[in-house]
Amino acid sequence: MKKTIIMICAAGAVLCGCSQKDPQLGKASVDKVVKAMTLEEKAMLVIGTGMQTPDNGANAVVGNSADLVPGAAGSTRAIPRLGIPAIVLADGPAGLRINPTREGDDATYYCTHFPIGTLLASTWNQELVESVGESMGEEVHEYGVDVYLAPAMNIHRNPLNGRNFEYYSEDPVVAGKTAAAYVRGVQKNDVGTSVKHFAYNNQETNRTANDARISPRAQREIYLKGFEIVVKESDPWTIMTSYNKLNGTYTSQRRDLVTTVLRDEWGFKGTVMTDWYGGDDAAAQMHAGNDMIQPGRQSQYEQIIDGVKNGTLDEADLDVCVKRILNLVLRSPRFKGYAFTNKPDLTAHAAVTRQSALEGMVLLENKNATLPIKDAKKVALFGCTSYDFIAGGTGSGNVNRAYTVSLLDGLKNGGFNVDESFKDIYTKYIADETAKALKANEGDPLAAFLPVARPTEYIPSSAQIASAVRNNDIAIITYGRNSGEFLDRTPSDFELSAQEKTLLKNVSDAFHRAGKKVIVVLNVGGVIETASWKNIPDAILLAWQAGQEGGNSVTDILTGKQSPSGKLSMTFPVNLMDHASSANFPMGGDTKVYFTERRVDTGEKDVDYTNYEEGIYVGYRWFDKQNMAVSYPFGYGLSYTTFGYSDPKVSNDGTTITANVTVKNTGSVAGKEVVELYVTAPASSLDKPVKELKAYAKTKALEPGEEQTLTMTFATADLASFDESKSAWVVDAGTYKFLFGASSRDIRGEATAEVAAQETKVNDVLK
Ligand code: BGC
Repeated sequence: MKKTIIMICAAGAVLCGCSQKDPQLGKASVDKVVKAMTLEEKAMLVIGTGMQTPDNGANAVVGNSADLVPGAAGSTRAIPRLGIPAIVLADGPAGLRINPTREGDDATYYCTHFPIGTLLASTWNQELVESVGESMGEEVHEYGVDVYLAPAMNIHRNPLNGRNFEYYSEDPVVAGKTAAAYVRGVQKNDVGTSVKHFAYNNQETNRTANDARISPRAQREIYLKGFEIVVKESDPWTIMTSYNKLNGTYTSQRRDLVTTVLRDEWGFKGTVMTDWYGGDDAAAQMHAGNDMIQPGRQSQYEQIIDGVKNGTLDEADLDVCVKRILNLVLRSPRFKGYAFTNKPDLTAHAAVTRQSALEGMVLLENKNATLPIKDAKKVALFGCTSYDFIAGGTGSGNVNRAYTVSLLDGLKNGGFNVDESFKDIYTKYIADETAKALKANEGDPLAAFLPVARPTEYIPSSAQIASAVRNNDIAIITYGRNSGEFLDRTPSDFELSAQEKTLLKNVSDAFHRAGKKVIVVLNVGGVIETASWKNIPDAILLAWQAGQEGGNSVTDILTGKQSPSGKLSMTFPVNLMDHASSANFPMGGDTKVYFTERRVDTGEKDVDYTNYEEGIYVGYRWFDKQNMAVSYPFGYGLSYTTFGYSDPKVSNDGTTITANVTVKNTGSVAGKEVVELYVTAPASSLDKPVKELKAYAKTKALEPGEEQTLTMTFATADLASFDESKSAWVVDAGTYKFLFGASSRDIRGEATAEVAAQETKVNDVLK
């Protein structure tokens, strides 16, 4: 008996006054606990405890997560009578998002801002992503959070999605493998992840009501494939459904998606939760198998009770959801009574973020080996962003970090002599412009979540530039872009502005006349236009948004401390409209819709609904099909050294394809190389992409002259395309070509293998 009382107390139920006859979670079986629950308790458990925001607090059922970990996005409800503690859910994905300070408490609770998702994917290094995930998970664990609302892995369907920075790639294999590594890393700490947003959340515009109209084939091959990989390869504790609809019905209310595909076909065993305020019918969500509704509102509680009472919701369906939540609670650190310290190793994690960022930066141009910087010591630093570096995007993907290292500080830390005459000019200019921009967001209930407009680029006078040329060895210009949830980017955000172009031209002309070089650093979260200006500077480093140590990481690359080895996980097109998806993507970027609002459906194309007319032709699949020129292809990235490929080989034993290739460092400095394995299928009755990525691998740091044989394996069944007429994955018999690429447009070796026909039927759903 005594033991039981201890468990109740651990569950935070000291004052519960529970009867000792009540079965206790962890002591009695989950079935018994569910049996003992009242309908009201069940309804309470499946909805969260509300959220503290100005407009939504009134809707909260009871309390909120602030009670447990201030700043966490949500929590589940405690039911002390049955020994059920509340557990805490908090954002990612670039690090834990909680409040950095607490009322009446002098301690701080900063978290590490790690590199954004896109940078992590650009490393093409699953081991590295796993180790970054492990560090993130340590902060989750030590700050008393049970489930980390990350990773985010929607496909980069179009460059303008405002949340692409949180996501990984236009390719489902890169997205799936990266997410799986991330989940494995985080969950090593005995905390959960929530893989989001399942699925098709490919635009922010009207995200809470947009109807994504997508063929089952494009869903299965492009938009679901990555989720399938992560479920099968990493066993995430939870999955978060998306806000949008799929073919007319909210994803969280589609039983075919949440139960038939996710659980029955893929074998997902965990808990499913909604995105915050997602969907519009709580009873339908329960029936679909969307176990938990976050953050929870009174009306949803009532819908569930009424549903059971009037027979529209089978209590057995509700019980299944309740059980899955209880199983989640059982695994949680809070249930196990973990004594978190509130003291994660922030110093060690700062080193992790600085180092990991190096592998995801992509060297786009490097004329005459401009980089690494050799003799130049005196740097003229241009571009507002050099002084105001962007660690990551806004919204729930933001992290309350203690600091961000600017490029100015990074260069100084790296021993450069940075021209101080610009520092004051830029600092004052940025402060004035930012104050104006902040005014624009004023009064918006979600101001703290929204991106603040970046200052219009400052253009120094010709006299200022002339003096910079005289006094310095080299020029660096940084351009920045920021975005976040609620809003998509605009076509003008994709282009360089007139001021940015003028700055580039003026600085380049002046420095080049004096025989001095110009480097452009891109501190962006997503794709921008590069074709029209990429030939002007001597080098371009795509630094992405590298987290709180950004300026140090960039400096490490510029100085050659490590050779860049990142490659693009998406295409950089010549023009935005070259993407097939651009014909059906909102270009307005201004139809922000808040959490609980639902826009009145006026049938507006790309806002109320979006037709995914391009089908499977997303990213390089489209550019290859059209044989269209791009600015930088998918998979592209330069290094400070060069690599030779030899002995490409492939074998197929009927179950597994095994591919080998030997990579040799043929240059003069150490470096890592990513090898991409593409497959071209034999002629088929299905329309097939020219080639598709099936696997990839990265070498260790190879010394000059050193070589390594890389082995890549994948299931022969993964050669299949989805045939809607049969509702089956079909592998055609014949000779398959395996292409070993340094990028999708730089194939260095080829091999073939014979493959026998295979067909795997799946449920005819997702219509
Ligand atoms: C976002 C989710 C996030 C949730 C909780 C939503 O607005 O779409 O990604 O996890 O808020 O903060």
